[in-house]
Amino acid sequence: MGKFLLGVIIGLILLPLVVYVYFAKGIAPVATAAPSMPFEKMFASMALHARLDREVPKTVPIQPDEANLTAGAQVYKEHCAVCHGVPGAPQTAIAKGMFPVPPKLMEGKGVTDDEPGETYWKVSGGIRMTGMPGFSTSLSTTQMWQVSLVCANADKLPAAAKEKLVAADLSQVPPKAETTK
Ligand code: HEC
Repeated sequence: MGKFLLGVIIGLILLPLVVYVYFAKGIAPVATAAPSMPFEKMFASMALHARLDREVPKTVPIQPDEANLTAGAQVYKEHCAVCHGVPGAPQTAIAKGMFPVPPKLMEGKGVTDDEPGETYWKVSGGIRMTGMPGFSTSLSTTQMWQVSLVCANADKLPAAAKEKLVAADLSQVPPKAETTK
């Protein structure tokens, strides 16, 4: 009985109190340069993967042909390159200052091993509290699929699509005034 009561006291009072003090007293990391919170990565990735399992579209409505990949590369250059980079260019100041740091999507493995549907889901809805924006209100469904196919095929893009990325000067990427729906 004594042990049971102790368990209840720890569970109901002590633990919430410790969590409260951790946040209320400013012990929790806030700056992007600060290290992760205990269990932050674990819970964030658990929540993301549970959601992905339920919601990722299983079929891709467009073909990964040259026209779609070239159009997707243009979308990538305008909306993604500043954070996720282009081949051969150094990481931008914006990307360097983020937490978590945006992964390179056009060099190395990127997300070439993810289903395009998973990337589409992330592009459409964004990833909360990471800086990864959701584009569902600023890009059309087709544009989001096109750029998702570019990410999925980053290691085998046709020359026309590659050209758009290689030519991208990230300091010149204009914030686009409006995007066609
Ligand atoms: C303002 C910076 C920013 C922009 C712009 C941005 N992203 Fe991201 N993106 C991030 C960050 C930060 C992450 C890492 C999230 C995480 O660690 O969970 C991320 C994650 C991702 C992931 C998941 C990567 C993985 O390894 O699972 C994909 C895919 C992605 N972004 C695609 C895109 C595409 C496509 C665009 C353009 C339409 C884009 N992002 C624009 C910051 C950005």
